Amino acid sequence: MTTRGLFQQSTAHSPSFFSVARAMGQHADDLADFCIPCNPYFPTDEMFGELERNLRTILKFYPSDAGAITAQLASVLRLNPSTISPANGSTELITWIDRLLVDASIAVPIPTFGRWTDQPLETGKRVDMFLLKESDNFELRVDEYVDFIKRRGSRVAVLCNPNNPDGGYLSRREVIRFMDALDDLDLVVIDESFIDFVEVEMNPSVAAEAVVRPNVIVLKSLGKNFGLHGIRFGYQVSNPALTRKLSAALPKWNLNSLAETVIFMLAERRAEYEESLKKLALDRFMMNSQLNQFPELTVFPSQANFLLVKLPGSVDGAELCDYLLAEHHLLVRQCGNKIGMTSQFMRFGVRPDTEVERLVEGLRGVERLGGGGRHTPTIELVAHSREPERSIS
Ligand SMILES: Cc1ncc(COP(=O)(O)O)c(C=O)c1O
Repeated sequence: MTTRGLFQQSTAHSPSFFSVARAMGQHADDLADFCIPCNPYFPTDEMFGELERNLRTILKFYPSDAGAITAQLASVLRLNPSTISPANGSTELITWIDRLLVDASIAVPIPTFGRWTDQPLETGKRVDMFLLKESDNFELRVDEYVDFIKRRGSRVAVLCNPNNPDGGYLSRREVIRFMDALDDLDLVVIDESFIDFVEVEMNPSVAAEAVVRPNVIVLKSLGKNFGLHGIRFGYQVSNPALTRKLSAALPKWNLNSLAETVIFMLAERRAEYEESLKKLALDRFMMNSQLNQFPELTVFPSQANFLLVKLPGSVDGAELCDYLLAEHHLLVRQCGNKIGMTSQFMRFGVRPDTEVERLVEGLRGVERLGGGGRHTPTIELVAHSREPERSIS
């Protein structure tokens, strides 16, 4: 099995599940993916059955144009269709936001999703990076970020809530305070790709606020919460003028028939979806307690469907990735290729308990990282029992 090279790529993103599975060949059958955070409980088996039965028709025919899909999405979300544009993943919208609406400079808290820094850098913009501090648990302090934006003179500002890779969450009230303080900017983007996983507040989204403001876009990625990264689906919410500008830039058939079919299935599946989010929140709590059994691991508070974990200095994340993949068939992500992070940080997607047991088992054997002449960690990750810390969720 030759998987080592896959993690040595000079990109801000992890190798895809498909490329790892191809490299592993027959060993890929029991591969568990902690790398890409995705809702494991949605779509339900019953929904997958329906998709499988209709696969031929779905693949044979052209999807509807964005107008028809937008109308359905708007009715599911109870939003005005003139305020949303669906896209081929929210990455497609990040690309167009940068091309159309970012003129010279953009402020981005780091660490965060790589496209928020890489996309504007690729088009020659000045990216003002606001460093979130480990000593603050990577928490974003609104006043400090606003001061930074004003001092730098950034014309556009981004805020991911919850943030990737730490899962830190800013209350709705704080996000509104942030938007109010920056009402003179060209644009403020609130990336809510992981907001449906938030448990601490009932209605955390500021989408309804965005439509009545002149300079705010809220971004959503349905791949994560609806558990369907492969179909590539995201959307933006903003006032009708901004929405028209973005929608006009998007190709006519930018959404595929699988995405269209799923959107039309959603209206009837609200209860199953809500149930899946409850299960995931419970998994997050349980997984946090499991990882907290290792005294040398630091687990950061998260409201997203992943947990950021700091390894002791003696254990290297890149080696841990190789070891867990080769010995335990677990695909995990180290954050060394993220701006503002190092390979001492791991981001583990929240998974059901049977898979977490495999991860815990893998971490228990971590002293084997130093085998065969490679460096020997001076601290071993030895599990002991500790009361779960409820504060995580
Ligand atoms: C904060 C954030 N925004 C956007 C995206 C892109 O999502 P999509 O798969 O919809 O393009 C990601 C992907 O991980 C992300 O973490």
